[in-house]
Amino acid sequence: MSEKQSPLTDFRAAIRTIPDYPKPGILFRDITTLLADPIAFRAAVDALVAPYADQRIRHVAGIEARGFILGGALAHQLTAGFVPIRKKGKLPHETIRVSYDLEYGTDEIELHKDAIKPGERVLLTDDLIATGGTATGAIKLLRELGAEIVAACFVIDLPDLGGAQRIRDLGVDVRTLVS
Ligand code: PRP
Ligand code: ADE
Repeated sequence: MSEKQSPLTDFRAAIRTIPDYPKPGILFRDITTLLADPIAFRAAVDALVAPYADQRIRHVAGIEARGFILGGALAHQLTAGFVPIRKKGKLPHETIRVSYDLEYGTDEIELHKDAIKPGERVLLTDDLIATGGTATGAIKLLRELGAEIVAACFVIDLPDLGGAQRIRDLGVDVRTLVS
């Protein structure tokens, strides 16, 4: 697991933990506190984009919903396009779809069929990786369109749930700021 943390910004301290949300037994890592902190948000975006500045990223793909906030900022910093990966039924044009298991349920995500062209270089992002179900589903969708996935980056990794390793097992480099 690569943990990159700015010596000036304590990302861990900027993240709030809510016990028993949304279900008993879940420790919910809430990034709204980090997003609301001007210094921490900027530092997180800077740290996430730093390895990819010269990587000719064509698109940042962000996973609904929290991945949209980070993904838009990363795409802007990288002068890349932003591609949304959304929960089913939200994208208006033709889509491809995958279902996946979550730490607390199951869900389906979709990607517009024409969002990515074969060979385009994509950086995948989300706020958090838990079981890796969502991100591995997103990787399947992106690869179905022929994307070259340069890496997947997240603010938080929950290493006990093994998600980062699952993504690495698919041959995708993973970077996170806090675990
Ligand atoms: C959360 C989180 C990731 C996913 C991680 O999203 O933002 O997308 O779970 O879990 P996993 O690694 O076990 O798949 P959630 O499905 O709660 O949706 P939201 O962002 O719309 O709240
Ligand atoms: N998504 C899946 N598990 C989560 C957790 N523990 N905290 C925040 N988001 C999550």
